[in-house]
Amino acid sequence: MVSVIFCGFAEGQNKRVYAKSGDVLLRVAQSNGIVIPTDCTDGMCGSCVVRIEDIATDESMDSNAEEYASKGKAVYMEDKELETLVSMGAITKKEAEIAQQFNRPTPVRLACQCVIKDAILVKPY
Ligand code: FES
Repeated sequence: MVSVIFCGFAEGQNKRVYAKSGDVLLRVAQSNGIVIPTDCTDGMCGSCVVRIEDIATDESMDSNAEEYASKGKAVYMEDKELETLVSMGAITKKEAEIAQQFNRPTPVRLACQCVIKDAILVKPY
């Protein structure tokens, strides 16, 4: 089980829940009463965009890409998620290219596409 902390979704409330590695973030949120806006639930609309910090190692996802991969934290992001994030201006095209090249997640994700691997802190976008 990994820790998922939702911060700032309900006024003044943080909520820590536990999820299985491999769970989809949106499902974990919904099953724990955390409201994240959704529309398509398929990575196309961008409604469920959230900010994510990796708290397993107290490092932000801005750390060196090779170092990140060497720690076994490689995360594959689908092209459609990256394209949606770029088209809505949440990440740059360069950030999307780095995510693809190094299999590392961007700090902004779509909750409906985000598979939980490690302890994370989740904030509204
Ligand atoms: Fe549409 Fe997640 S609900 S992208």
